Amino acid sequence: MRCRKCPHKAVLEIPRHHTAFCKRCLTEFVCGQVERAVKHDKMFTKADRVLVAVSGGKDSLTLLDVLHTLGYHVAALYVDLGIGDYSKRSKAKVEAFTSARGLVLHVHELKEDEGAGINDLANLISRPACSACGTIKRHHFNRVAVEYGYSVLATGHNLDDEASRLLGNVLRWQTEYLDKQGPVLPASVDGFAKKVKPLYRLAEREIAAYAVVNKLDYIVEECPNAVGAKMLLYKDVLNRLEAESPGTKQAFYWGFLAKQEAEGGRTMAESDQAMLRPCVACGQPTTAETCNYCKMMARAIATKAP
Ligand code: AMP
Ligand code: FES
Ligand code: ZN
Repeated sequence: MRCRKCPHKAVLEIPRHHTAFCKRCLTEFVCGQVERAVKHDKMFTKADRVLVAVSGGKDSLTLLDVLHTLGYHVAALYVDLGIGDYSKRSKAKVEAFTSARGLVLHVHELKEDEGAGINDLANLISRPACSACGTIKRHHFNRVAVEYGYSVLATGHNLDDEASRLLGNVLRWQTEYLDKQGPVLPASVDGFAKKVKPLYRLAEREIAAYAVVNKLDYIVEECPNAVGAKMLLYKDVLNRLEAESPGTKQAFYWGFLAKQEAEGGRTMAESDQAMLRPCVACGQPTTAETCNYCKMMARAIATKAP
């Protein structure tokens, strides 16, 4: 198979775009899609300082690599969840990656600052590790971005992540979450960093191919806590639909975004936005008196106490 843009051998076929690319044209395609998302969705400009949350996996390291290559002003944040060997190896990948490119890396250590790793914390509050983990990561993503004066926080969520999350929300008609499913969440109030997902135009396999052809050294295995997670099932279902009918995933998620935009581009229920105020314990914006993160930590401390 030949590349559709030049005479070289293709390394990846992309049926949803009726095309195939060689290494160089694939890299151009990935960078182009990221640039398009950043500009079209007004995520940030070259004047902004962007904090990229990196897990050590292919998506977030690709995002950091692409934004750095495109000349954006980026730094990285790694949250060490204390998941044994998996966290140690992910952190080492992130450290090697950022130091090779001379990028600033912020690290938040759960075991040092919260006093326990994610599995022990989740056990203490009887919650699945993945849901506790989401609350903790979101808290520190926002905290570090605001504390260090970054104008925007970027994550490596891709088209597969967003389409499977949308499917999960639609299957249960969790319409209250749909408002927050866009690739841009503006900094609605003081203390809330703007959040963006510049990889939302790219499928997971396109990102994986970019990471391989550009020899990015990322952690291949998934988080051990993700095994059996519902999201993996939704991804699998969407992949099967995609194989039968290329473009399904994109039509599903992008179609949702287009409808949202036509309705005025809602990002957060106005009633929720009006209720945002500083958490009494940590000062981060929340719609309750105490934010979810502080409630969770208080419960963990209360359970641990003799
Ligand atoms: P996940 O929720 O694991 O699918 O990850 C989604 C995105 O969150 C990744 O692409 C990263 O941008 C970010 N992320 C996940 N885990 C971490 C972590 N431990 N430290 C920093 N960022 C992370
Ligand atoms: Fe959060 Fe695995 S428990 S990434
Ligand atoms: Zn709080």
